[in-house]
Amino acid sequence: MTAYGGRVPEIHVVQRRAEHLKSAAEALRLVHERDGYPMVWPEDPVAWLSPGRSLDGWVALLDGAVVGHVLLVEGDVVEHAAEVAVAASVAVAQLAGVSRLFVAPAARGGGVAAALLDRALRASAERGRRLALDVLDDGGPAVRLYERLGWARVTSGPAGWTRPDGERPQAAAYLSPG
Ligand SMILES: CC(C)(COP(=O)(O)OP(=O)(O)OC[C@H]1O[C@@H](n2cnc3c(N)ncnc32)[C@H](O)[C@@H]1OP(=O)(O)O)[C@@H](O)C(=O)NCCC(=O)NCCS
Repeated sequence: MTAYGGRVPEIHVVQRRAEHLKSAAEALRLVHERDGYPMVWPEDPVAWLSPGRSLDGWVALLDGAVVGHVLLVEGDVVEHAAEVAVAASVAVAQLAGVSRLFVAPAARGGGVAAALLDRALRASAERGRRLALDVLDDGGPAVRLYERLGWARVTSGPAGWTRPDGERPQAAAYLSPG
């Protein structure tokens, strides 16, 4: 028996709208409890889902509930953006970034994250941008996902933010395939 009671789940990726935010925040809560993402639970999760410098966003829906989420943001938000731009031979302004990517625990292992990233990649290309992202360099599922999908590791170094314990973790920056 699967998490879906044995039936094949029908997951659709659609452009994110205001009406999706409450459900997205509920999925995020499950992700935080399971994976510690985000590391610190935000006071206002709906606001956390809409940081400044966002360009677009998509959600994965299952029976009307959000089970996955991703944002396309300005490239300068990405850690180590300058090095990524050099690697891509473009200006930082010609980069876009991936942000707030997560998939609800019950919907994992079926390519939902890959589908969300594909949507962000297409939107970035339509804007004439190269797509970049940063990730906690812990060899975890997110790092494995990007490497499996052919993203190129550009660099890894101390993040521009600190953990609650004051430590500055390693953040790896990746450039999209193609
Ligand atoms: C990272 C994350 C987004 C991946 O989501 P996901 O939808 O499960 O990703 P995928 O389904 O594409 O891949 C997950 C696993 O399922 C496997 N998989 C994917 N499609 C599959 C399929 N059709 N059949 C069998 N296995 C499949 C993948 O090989 C992968 O295995 P691995 O972890 O051993 O490499 C999710 O784990 C998550 O939300 N983590 C917490 C938040 C986070 O870290 N976000 C990233 C911030 S940078």
